[in-house]
This record gives sequence, C-alpha cells and structure tokens, in this order.
Amino acid sequence: MSGKSVIPDIDTTTAHSARMYDYYLGGKDNYAVDRKAADGVIALFPDTPRIAAENRAFMRRATAAMVREGGVRQFVDLGSGLPTVDNLHEVAQRTAPGSRVVYVDNDPIVLAHGRALLEGNGLTRVITADLRDPDGLLADSALTGLIDFDRPVGLMMISVLHFIEGDLAPLLAGYLDRLAPGSYLALSHVNAENADTGRADLVRNTYRNSASSLTYRTRDEIAGLLAGCDLLDPGIVPAWRWRPDSAGTAEPAPAAGDVRPARSAILAGVGRLAGR
Ligand SMILES: C[S@@+](CC[C@H](N)C(=O)[O-])C[C@H]1O[C@@H](n2cnc3c(N)ncnc32)[C@H](O)[C@@H]1O
Repeated sequence: MSGKSVIPDIDTTTAHSARMYDYYLGGKDNYAVDRKAADGVIALFPDTPRIAAENRAFMRRATAAMVREGGVRQFVDLGSGLPTVDNLHEVAQRTAPGSRVVYVDNDPIVLAHGRALLEGNGLTRVITADLRDPDGLLADSALTGLIDFDRPVGLMMISVLHFIEGDLAPLLAGYLDRLAPGSYLALSHVNAENADTGRADLVRNTYRNSASSLTYRTRDEIAGLLAGCDLLDPGIVPAWRWRPDSAGTAEPAPAAGDVRPARSAILAGVGRLAGR
C-alpha cells in the first residue's frame, strides 16, 4: 500500500515493532501495548535498549561511509522505523546537502510522524509500503520521483529482515537487480547464535503476538544476504564493531574486552554492488 495522501488508522491494540523499537530508544511515539511488550523483552534481555542504540549508530556510520567513500547521494531506507534523533537524511544531508532519501515502512505511524519531521524538506519522503513487494514499491511514483535507479543508491535494510520469514534471496534479488553498479546494501539482523536460546524463544513469542514475527538467522545466513556484493571492511560483525571510530556519529562506547553474548545480538555489514 502506498500512503501518499491518506494516513490510515493506527492500531493501538497490537504491539508494533516500530513503536517497541522507539521505546527501546527512549522515544515517546509508542502506546501502552508496545511498552508492555517491549518491557517483556527488556526483562529477558536488559541490554536491549543499548543494542537498539548501537544498531541505530551503525545505520548512521554506514550512511556516512556511503556518502563519503562511495559518493552515494540517494538512499532508500526499507523498514526505516519512526523518526528519532539524527535520522538517515540528516546524516546524509549534513555531508552532502543534496542527498535524497526515501523512507519506507509498513507501519502507518511512521508516515504520520515522518510527515511532520520532513515538512519543507523536498529531498526526503516517507512511503507506507510492505518491503516484501519490491516490484510494487519500485514502481511507486513517490519513490521513482525522487530516486534515479540509473545512479548508485544506498539501500538500507537495518534491523528489518528478521521480521521477514522464509528465504530472503528472491526478495533481495528483487531489489539488487534494479540497482546500478556502485550501489550499496547495508543491513543488520538479529543473530541466531546469541546465547541462551530459552530466553530468545520467549522474545520470539512476544513478537509473534505483535504485528511482526521474529526470525533469527545465523551468521552464515546473514553473510549470505550480502553474498552478491563486495563486503566492506570489517565484514559481518556485531553492529557496534562496524567501524566504531568513524567520525560523525555518536554511539555508546563499548567497554574494552566486553565479550558478553548480548554485544553480538545484532550482526551488521555493508556491501558494494560492483558489476551487476
Ligand atoms: C527494529 S525497527 C528498525 C528501524 C530502523 N531501520 C533502524 O534500524 O533504526 C524495524 C522496522 O521495520 C518495519 N517493518 C517490519 N516489517 C516490515 C515490512 N514487511 N515492510 C516494511 N517495513 C517493515 C517496522 O515497522 C519497524 O519500523
């Protein structure tokens, strides 16, 4: 569905991952049902808010790297989440002011809040759509009106693919086949190899009762998502380890020698499409 002109009803009776994530990040755009579900996850994994912040910081560093090193000036952020502090378009447009950004999320609350944030910013749009339909999304005039697919694009799939069940290869191909050489794919994903599977199962149950179920994938499966790209250094690593010293982004500093499993709960990587 494209939500260009109509803001659909927002369901406040079922927890939504966008609003739970907002709560983890300390935001206010969430409802009692989201806070209850998120508090259940935090009770099981107290590091969740920090991991969410680290994931968000990875998004910012990956964006900055694409702008600075890859010369990318247009981004499509799939499963963008609610606007928060220092969003992708702010990171990109700070370095390269003409950068164009399209945010895509299937939760209509993202559109409602994004509109207010982006008023007057003609280089940035929010679309309500399901990323599982690449053909429909890539034909949406709200997207094609801003993004030129003959030029490199930074495609972001940050902390969203674990909300998509099944084989992701055809879905990724649906996007990557459309991207020009020199495009980038940045992704992060919940790591199945996190310790304590008992608690992980309980978290999965929490999300099963929300609008999106959660699929854990192994490091190899996550690496496979970037198999068609040249992987940027340092490869597939916990989100906080992806170029933690890059300038321009704030992030919580990891304690030296911190090897707790929670620190690798989210794996992240960035790939560059060469000769597609
Ligand atoms: C954990 S948040 C991540 C937000 C942001 N990418 C980040 O990492 O900071 C996951 C987001 O993906 C969205 N999402 C889940 N399934 C989706 C789908 N099928 N299509 C589009 N968005 C989806 C949720 O609504 C939510 O906003």
